[in-house]
Amino acid sequence: MSFKEYRDVIKENDAVILYLGFDNMLTLKLEKGKTHQTRYGAMKHDDVIGRNFGSKIQCANGFLHVLHPTPELWTLNLPHRTQILYATDISMVIMQLDLKPGSVVIESGTGSGSLSHSIIRTIAPTGHLYTFEFHEQRAEKAKDEFEEHEISEYVTVEHRDVCNNGFGKTAVADAVFLDLPAPWSAIPHAKVAMKSQGRICSFSPCIEQVQTSCETLAANGFTDIVTIECLVRLYDVKELNIPQTSLVEKDKLADSADSSNMTKMTVSVPQTVMPGHTGYLTFATLFSK
Ligand SMILES: C[S@@+](CC[C@H](N)C(=O)[O-])C[C@H]1O[C@@H](n2cnc3c(N)ncnc32)[C@H](O)[C@@H]1O
Repeated sequence: MSFKEYRDVIKENDAVILYLGFDNMLTLKLEKGKTHQTRYGAMKHDDVIGRNFGSKIQCANGFLHVLHPTPELWTLNLPHRTQILYATDISMVIMQLDLKPGSVVIESGTGSGSLSHSIIRTIAPTGHLYTFEFHEQRAEKAKDEFEEHEISEYVTVEHRDVCNNGFGKTAVADAVFLDLPAPWSAIPHAKVAMKSQGRICSFSPCIEQVQTSCETLAANGFTDIVTIECLVRLYDVKELNIPQTSLVEKDKLADSADSSNMTKMTVSVPQTVMPGHTGYLTFATLFSK
């Protein structure tokens, strides 16, 4: 299975996404002779190997679909080793950092590699991601996953404390992304690693972290410093019974003989409870060094 390009036919040892519903998915490595139990009954791996991605697989009590992995599906199904970035923030990061095929990007920390997969898809086949992680096992696990996902040629994983030791690179990066507890310690090192005109982004959950990062960015000559928060607000579409009187003009209200009549109306209503704050995204540009 590859995150680099789409393939039609499912092979042995592919990691596939089993899609049982939009809120029920998992990643599974397909191995000959094995059986996987789902809520719809047993699924034999042999019944899936050789089929096309996207196939509907019938089990005893229902069906599921076998999907080709994408960075978005991986983000929803990856093994969590840390907190991760999700698609809403990721899409904003990629757009605001102006990433495209050929971009050279520095990221720290690698964490669970959620953001890394989306960055790699965006910058391949001519760009490169240098990702830094000071937790050795996390760095090793990320390396293994990139190899398994056939994208290791686009990424270099380094076990390193970037706050104390920097990135070990000079003027190579078009963009730097920081997801660190103390991002301000890495900002002077990021400046060294960046090309002029480069963009930087720092993700922090707390406003105090943002304040210190903004001050450090300004002190290091970064400009266009902007902090945003991505909030997803869902709307329900509902049919409501509305008194007819509320639909007629005010001066006709008093005369309306049918004021007690109700009428059905389809309306969109914002949900009052939503998944809220994830973190603040601070962006800035390094115009010249
Ligand atoms: C929240 S996680 C990053 C998650 C990642 N953005 C993702 O989407 O999967 C933060 C990571 O930064 C690493 N880290 C913290 N301080 C670091 C430092 N000084 N140098 C390198 N990595 C560091 C932590 O070990 C942790 O794995």
